[in-house]
Amino acid sequence: MCGIVGATAERRVAGILLEGLRRLEYRGYDSAGMALLNDEGLQQLRRVGKVQALADALEETGANGFSGIAHTRWATHGGVTEANAHPHFSNSTIAVVHNGIIENHESLRKKLQDLGYVFTSQTDTEVICHLMHHELKSTDDLLTALQATVKQLEGAYGTVIMDKRRPGELVVARSGSPLVIGLGIGENFIASDQLALLPVTREFIYLEEGDVARVTRDKVEIFDHQGAAVQREQQTSDLQYDAGGKGEYRHYMLKEIHEQPFAVRNSLEGRVNGDEIMVNAFGENAAEIFKDIRHVQIIACGTSYHAGMVARYWLEAYAGVSCNVEIASEFRYRKSHVFPGSLLVTISQSGETADTLAALRLAKTLGYRSSLTICNVATSSMVRESDLAFLTRAGAEIGVASTKAFTTQLVGLLMLVSALGHFNGMDKATEARIAHALSTLPTKLEQSLKITAEIEELAEEFADKDHSLFLGRGDQYPIAMEGALKLKEISYIHAEAYAAGELKHGPLALIDAEMPVIVVAPNNELLEKLKSNVEEVRARGGIMYVFADKDAHFASDDTMRVINLDHVDELVAPIVYTIPLQLLSYYVAIIKGTDVDQPRNLAKSVTVE
Ligand code: G6P
Repeated sequence: MCGIVGATAERRVAGILLEGLRRLEYRGYDSAGMALLNDEGLQQLRRVGKVQALADALEETGANGFSGIAHTRWATHGGVTEANAHPHFSNSTIAVVHNGIIENHESLRKKLQDLGYVFTSQTDTEVICHLMHHELKSTDDLLTALQATVKQLEGAYGTVIMDKRRPGELVVARSGSPLVIGLGIGENFIASDQLALLPVTREFIYLEEGDVARVTRDKVEIFDHQGAAVQREQQTSDLQYDAGGKGEYRHYMLKEIHEQPFAVRNSLEGRVNGDEIMVNAFGENAAEIFKDIRHVQIIACGTSYHAGMVARYWLEAYAGVSCNVEIASEFRYRKSHVFPGSLLVTISQSGETADTLAALRLAKTLGYRSSLTICNVATSSMVRESDLAFLTRAGAEIGVASTKAFTTQLVGLLMLVSALGHFNGMDKATEARIAHALSTLPTKLEQSLKITAEIEELAEEFADKDHSLFLGRGDQYPIAMEGALKLKEISYIHAEAYAAGELKHGPLALIDAEMPVIVVAPNNELLEKLKSNVEEVRARGGIMYVFADKDAHFASDDTMRVINLDHVDELVAPIVYTIPLQLLSYYVAIIKGTDVDQPRNLAKSVTVE
């Protein structure tokens, strides 16, 4: 979603800002802009489309400056136009970039219009720059004006502001949208994600909720929501990330699909001890908390929600604890019941998804025994605000469609099953089986990647279809859902997933030769039931693609193409069967020529509601 980069330095910063925006491109956006301050004043450059269009404009104009702010916008209020792109200006003096949504923008706009301000965009953001301009009539201090401004804002914001009368000074505020300050020598930076600043610094300060700060070349001053000066911890990032690093792969998504054996190995490192899962993988006091847990409430969005759905099957089957799973945007707006001894589990690749974060904050007021997040970003809000955290160590995921983040979430969740089961009467044999299945998983994933050529061929048959149906049963039902989501996201083919047993209650009416049906069929106790469902499709002239355990004895014929996978313990089958579905979506998208890493209208990290 929207990205922010700011810099104040003794050198010219346009290149740094541009590189920062490029590094945030993966998050999804539809326009980009920059404001630069130099001796000639404040310059504004904005372009609809890719960051490259902004780069071209910078080259044409030669614009540069010693301080500046830049932004990639993902439209919420107002269409995708240059006028709506950030930075927004007030009276050619104040420049503002903003992530988040100002919910009371209409009343503020009215008030500012009454004061004579003229709006040039349809955005909610524009109220911030006029408010700043207005507040600066009664103070000389940019930070004081910002403190007065944020008091009037309702909603979420990460914002960076500069004033042409105060060169070298940036003021920032964070509430609901992350911001990190990057520290340099004689220069300082600000961004919505540390990835943007890795070429210029490894030293970071994460702002906390309600913080405002003044950032100059040689000083950073931070104040909390009550206006008290505070020190926030300085952290050194060890994140390995090369923005150009697709390696031998054509897209980040393909690279990330192939990284899964490595990412899973990484996630397991030091966390499995022989036949046992190390409970402290979830935090130092995890054992103390887990022994009280009798129920798990999982909350997540998108792909992470599908990981949660798999975990529900696992937890109830193996760990002896009950489990509910809910989409965060639903959970946060309904009254829910908290079972005694409940653990609240959020699952999130980014740790910043607005709905999941809001649900976590709400849940903390509801009486849960404790909160755990399964997350890929150590410095994220969810990790910082949860009692316990399992870090998935998937490495930075750049493709918008989540792949390695999902499979490593499942690894963390299966470890959670063992850890909770340990305190709820799970027998030693099951604990050992989980540990063994996880330890051998990276090799199984490597094997499953070997069917790429077969899937490329299959994709050819698939790419001209408009609709598709994915079927699975038991813990493969969420995998079917994830397969359908992947296909939708990157190939734009309509895909629906059904629990195969539900087929005859509606979707069977859709079956014909133009509606390919994808079936995930590992060899488990539901196999025979699934075979009956396959026959129901066949009897109606459906064309099927079955990803099956080679021991399940499915045979290809005119109506069914079978892609065999090696046998795996059914415990980890949801993780292994995810791979062919990811590859299928990828190769269909390649044939369709879509923007695989940045599919239309989607964002990597959805930091607004
Ligand atoms: C967006 C992304 C998805 C992701 C979802 C939840 O929709 O495009 O890939 O699954 O957000 O994100 P999270 O970071 O919370 O896992």
